Amino acid sequence: MISELPFDKLKIDSILGKHPTPFHIYDEKGIIENAKRFNRAFGILPGFKNYFAVKALPNPFIMKILKEENMGMDCSSMSELILAEKTGIKGEDIMFSSNDTPSEELVKAVELGAIINLDDITHIEFLEKCAGIPEVICFRYNPGGLKRGNSIIGNPTEAKYGFTREQIIEGYKLARQKGAKKFGLHTMVISNELDKNYFIETADIIFDLVLEVHDKLGIELDFVNLGGGIGIPYRPDQVAVNYDELAKGIYESYKSKILANGLELKIFMECGRVITGPYGYLITEVIHMKNTYKKYVGCDASMSNLMRPAMYGAYHHITVLGKEKEVADFCCDVTGSLCENNDKFAIDRMLPKINVGDLLVIHDTGAHGHSMGFNYNGKLRSAELLLRKDGSVVEIRRTETVDDYFRTLDFNLLEKFK
Ligand SMILES: Cc1ncc(COP(=O)(O)O)c(C=O)c1O
Repeated sequence: MISELPFDKLKIDSILGKHPTPFHIYDEKGIIENAKRFNRAFGILPGFKNYFAVKALPNPFIMKILKEENMGMDCSSMSELILAEKTGIKGEDIMFSSNDTPSEELVKAVELGAIINLDDITHIEFLEKCAGIPEVICFRYNPGGLKRGNSIIGNPTEAKYGFTREQIIEGYKLARQKGAKKFGLHTMVISNELDKNYFIETADIIFDLVLEVHDKLGIELDFVNLGGGIGIPYRPDQVAVNYDELAKGIYESYKSKILANGLELKIFMECGRVITGPYGYLITEVIHMKNTYKKYVGCDASMSNLMRPAMYGAYHHITVLGKEKEVADFCCDVTGSLCENNDKFAIDRMLPKINVGDLLVIHDTGAHGHSMGFNYNGKLRSAELLLRKDGSVVEIRRTETVDDYFRTLDFNLLEKFK
């Protein structure tokens, strides 16, 4: 289902003088209302906390809004840890879930007091050597053939992430010997999944493993982190996951497996997409119309602003601003300017008749949108704007300039270079 836009053409026209296209604009009211609904639903789970996956939308202004809504931060790199720190988030409000991790990132995470979630059994000694074993430690479980995964995250048996079941047991034993006192168990095996039963099955698998750890080692786990991966309805015919039903399903599993065996633990998640995804929009102007073997609508944005359609063939709904009520009888490919033929936001999309100068709204760019941007072809990263609750617009990241782009080059050295 495609939700109504939080702005109209008049509003966007009024900001274009100050904020030229392309830009991403995020809807603060939508994000806050959704975060409250999410926390209300999952609040039935013991000690529930969502660690927002910073990689989805690594903007400290958005992170500050989510902090106010009691979210922690799931970080996976030095820059994301620093963003959390700058936003005033530290200690166990940070979960550091990285893979193939360099030692300096573990050192920083330990320094911030973050919960460290290790990706491999060999990382226990690696962590011990570089930063010491903290009191709280968590391991990422890869359930292998027990889950099917999907095209974004891969089939678990082929995916590079996590410990095997046997390694999880060995890992807790080893970490306990080395001084860890509190233990967590994490998994993340799906991305952009709309079937709530998938997550309930994952909870079943994780809770069974909690029981196995208790039986084999006598360890009572402090928490489980069921990962992120809740999908959003990018297509008009898709339906959003019902938070209440999913929370109840996880609780039932918790009750029958954990409570029934006399145990208790906290339940965490690290959703990104479902928290901010539907509340971001990429605004781009049509600068060329091309008619060859197909009809092409050429935009001033490119896949460097939004990679998902080119990378995954992902659908993003497109609205032509001011033409919302017009008949969609024009079939076209909506393209960007990269020297890559897959630089298309849409293929064979039916839209209303389009003219140069029209503004397109590309929906659902609030997660894994701007953050997946890049500089290929020397393209500059766009600005990020926030539509505030009171209707005002604030620039929360400026557009990159050519000077930013060239900052890593030394042109003085070039002059002398022969
Ligand atoms: C370890 C981990 N946690 C959480 C997420 C967030 O996923 P989503 O934004 O789909 O909820 C990701 C996504 O790549 C991830 O790799």
